[in-house]
Amino acid sequence: MEGYRLNPLLSREQISSIVQHLADRISEDYRGRELVLVCILKGAFMFLSDLVRHLRIPIQVDFVRLASYGSGMKTSRKIEITKDIEIPIEKKDVLIIEDIIDSGRTLQFLKDRLAFLNPRSIKVCALLDKKARREVEMEADYLGIEVEDNFIVGYGIDFNENYRYLPEIYYVTPIDHPKE
Ligand code: IMP
Ligand code: MG
Repeated sequence: MEGYRLNPLLSREQISSIVQHLADRISEDYRGRELVLVCILKGAFMFLSDLVRHLRIPIQVDFVRLASYGSGMKTSRKIEITKDIEIPIEKKDVLIIEDIIDSGRTLQFLKDRLAFLNPRSIKVCALLDKKARREVEMEADYLGIEVEDNFIVGYGIDFNENYRYLPEIYYVTPIDHPKE
């Protein structure tokens, strides 16, 4: 990936303390309930696995994979489910696990769709939030940290399928090549 620089945004220690804090709140709030975590693939896989290890309540885990088409005009973007949940969620509490909220459209689509299955509740836990880029009304019920409008990679989050493996979080900037 030439021409780009990765700038450190969150260290392993910072991520770990954010995740621990979220897990504490979720463990408190959902004690004695039937909680299903619905992880949005692929970006949230690392966040989910760390979060689950810090929870102190029994839970179930499921996954969805969403694809969005029509990259040109953001407002005309069409979102589709390419892998659906498999666990029944009727009368259960659902917590969607997302890596980043950007326009908010992915979460709006998924929340609306899961609502048809009559869960007891649907809430959202997101690690990062780029509030400045919101196109629809969407707030995380559990938010790690708000970030500026930069392209983010690492800790499960990709740039053309690269950098997901990095344990830290970075923002990408173009490298200015001085004129020769
Ligand atoms: P939204 O539907 O616009 O809110 O888009 C959310 C999705 O876009 C997230 O699940 C991410 O997969 C992806 N995304 C948004 N911002 C970034 C980023 O900075 N880096 C990598 N993926 C991103
Ligand atoms: Mg995603």
